[in-house]
Order: sequence, then C-alpha cells, then structure tokens
Amino acid sequence: MLVAHGLTKEYQSGTQTLVVLRDVTFKIADGAFVSIVGPSGSGKTTLLGLLAGLDTPSRGTVTLDGVDLGSLDEDRRAKLRGEKVGFVFQSFQLIPTLTALENVQVPLELSGAVPMREATARARDLLARVGLGDRTHHFPQQLSGGEQQRVALARAFVNEPRVLFADEPTGNLDGTTGEVIVELLMQLNRERGCTIVLVTHDAALAARTQRTIRLRDGIVVEDVFHPAFDAAVASL
Ligand SMILES: Nc1ncnc2c1ncn2[C@@H]1O[C@H](COP(=O)(O)OP(=O)(O)O)[C@@H](O)[C@H]1O
Ligand SMILES: [Mg+2]
Repeated sequence: MLVAHGLTKEYQSGTQTLVVLRDVTFKIADGAFVSIVGPSGSGKTTLLGLLAGLDTPSRGTVTLDGVDLGSLDEDRRAKLRGEKVGFVFQSFQLIPTLTALENVQVPLELSGAVPMREATARARDLLARVGLGDRTHHFPQQLSGGEQQRVALARAFVNEPRVLFADEPTGNLDGTTGEVIVELLMQLNRERGCTIVLVTHDAALAARTQRTIRLRDGIVVEDVFHPAFDAAVASL
C-alpha cells in the first residue's frame, strides 16, 4: 500500500511562496495501475518524485508498505528505493558511456542481489521483452528516443520493484510503440503484481489504466476508477 497524506510542496522564491502541491491525499492499493493526469505545470512530476522518495514534501507524509518515508534519512530512503521502487524519468537519464545491456544491469549490480551472470541474463530478457533484443550492445546515442525510453523501462523493472513510477513513459513514442509499452506495463502489472503509477498526457492511455487521479494547480480535482481495466486484464 502506498499512502499520500496531506502532501504539500512549496518553493520559496524571494518573498513569494509558490505552492506546487496542496494537501494531496490518497491511497493506492498493492498491484494497482494508476494514472496521474493534469495540465503542464499542475504538479505531476513533483508528486511522482515525492511518492518515490526522490524528493521530500514541505508538509504531509508518504507511507510505502507501512514505512513513513519522512522518518528515514537520505541513505535509508535510497536503500528502500533500491529495494522496492523503479522509476522511469521523463528524460530517461541513461548513462551515455554504457551499452543498453549495461544500463539495464546497473541497478542489479548496485544492489548486489544476484550474481553477475544472472544479472546479465535478466537484463537480456527484459530488453527482449521491450523489443530491443537486437540492440543490447548499442549505446544510448545510437538509439532513437523511443528505444532509449524502452531501455529506461527495462532498467526500472530489473530489480522487480514493488512499485514502478513512470513519468510520461509514452511521451516520446509513436502510437504503435506507445501501444507496445502500455501492453508491457499491463502484463508486468498483472504477472508480477507490481503497482504502477504513471503520469501521462494521453487521455486514451489514462482511460486504459485502472484509476485516474487528476491534478489541477497542485490539487486533486478528480479520482475515478475505470471498470474497463479489469475486463481488459481478464482477457489478457
Ligand atoms: N525546483 C523547483 N523550484 C521552483 N519551482 C519548481 C521546482 N520544480 C517544479 N517547480 C514548479 O512546480 C510546478 C509544477 O511542476 P511539475 O511538477 O514539473 O509539473 P508537471 O509535471 O505537471 O508539468 C511548476 O510551476 C514548476 O515551475
Ligand atoms: Mg512533468
């Protein structure tokens, strides 16, 4: 369970206080597939960063599997992220000097959870699943934006996170590739019970998720469930 309670994020600029998120409260059940939507500047990326423990709120709490992230120091939060959280950044943030395969392996090497050979096998498997089985030795600059996005997705999944956060994961993809990514997210959500929270501009994509939380000016203005999701999952 992921719980946001009274989340508020403010930035101080001179004498002005900019309120980016205001009193955001919701619960996300284990295994849920949630989309966060809203206009540009409404606080979506900020909210995702707070939920993932990458950033700290001005007020309020985020609780992941019963642990209040605010009670942890930065080292412990980083450890928890490594164990439980996957994150796909809007800008990919791949390491330019590493191949696709090496980029995907990095989180496993850092956690030391599995032997090197298994880390490589898992990374290969995930790259194949995102349709990049023949691009494992390419460097990021040799890949298109959509391909880099898929490497970033494979990297986020390699540690088998409990929760995956993805900031506009289909934003740089053409319709067909976007569709592949959505199918993949739905499969991983169902097969591994991984909770997925994704930010999207794409209304059609949001409608395919289980639940949509809509932000406007840092406030939750809508929170709806889509019954079609469970029917779609049942037919996968
Ligand atoms: N580090 C920061 N300092 C000051 N303002 C920020 C900072 N980060 C984000 N903001 C402001 O917070 C608001 C929400 O940003 P963001 O969460 O990126 O929105 P979205 O992802 O919905 O487009 C924007 O007005 C942005 O300018
Ligand atoms: Mg954003």
